Amino acid sequence: MILINDQFIKRNQDTHIDIEDRGYQFGDGIYEVVRVYQGKTFRLDDHLDRFERSAKEIFMELPFSKTETKLKITQLIEMNNLQDGIVYFQVTRGVAPRTHAFPQNAKPVLTAYTKKSPRPIDQFKNGIKVVTVEDIRWLRCDIKSLNLLGNVLAKQYAHEHQAEEAIQIRDNTVTEGSSSNFYIVENGKIYTHPADHFILRGITRIVVEEIANKLGIPFIEKLFSVKDVYRADEAFISSTTAEITPVIQVNDKVIGNGPGPIVRAIQEEFQKLI
Ligand code: PDD
Repeated sequence: MILINDQFIKRNQDTHIDIEDRGYQFGDGIYEVVRVYQGKTFRLDDHLDRFERSAKEIFMELPFSKTETKLKITQLIEMNNLQDGIVYFQVTRGVAPRTHAFPQNAKPVLTAYTKKSPRPIDQFKNGIKVVTVEDIRWLRCDIKSLNLLGNVLAKQYAHEHQAEEAIQIRDNTVTEGSSSNFYIVENGKIYTHPADHFILRGITRIVVEEIANKLGIPFIEKLFSVKDVYRADEAFISSTTAEITPVIQVNDKVIGNGPGPIVRAIQEEFQKLI
């Protein structure tokens, strides 16, 4: 089953997305991806708070309150009997004759679906290779917008270079992955890009900060360059789907000696939360 506004319907049956839906034509909308572990959502409230913030930043009214959306998302998971996977939901500005400015009478369109997906355990254990790419995205990467072309091109570049993720560089500064946040560890301290307009404030990033605080590991928001990454003791990424994944190679440079003690400690604590 999938959700369209307040209707639960079968996928591929009675599904209708208008050709002039603004999400389809302009990417004019916002989304969230939430992890489900053993039938339970992980940090759904945080995702819904970010969803509301994204909507506000693009001057879009959401069709349902936070409580109503939460109920619908939870119902969808139950209906589909999803145990381990993700729930995706988005809201577009609605359907109207195509013109760039906001339409007068369009009603926002909510859609949601669930997908089974196993946790990438091998990558958690062994780590991944990443490559760097220029960050060509717009200047409001803090909004979880449907416009993902910059991210799509970055991830494609990574895959064409036998890497799992692309780490984006803006003005000689490492911002974030194409679909993840990025961190380095030096002398027992975690460094990551400040949560400003140049990155998405990941929900998993919030969890990483909480874990670091609990373990007494300094969590420092600071700009750093690719040179700093090459010198780092450890590196890792975080996201809803990648959780906490060690990075063992950046371009041709091997980082540390495989997954290091700080990333292992964060992973261990993360595991206790799910
Ligand atoms: N992506 N940065 C970007 C650009 C992202 O797209 C994501 C998540 C993150 C991490 O955010 P979170 O911890 O809240 O998942 C950071 C999701 C998973 C996606 O688009 O599939």
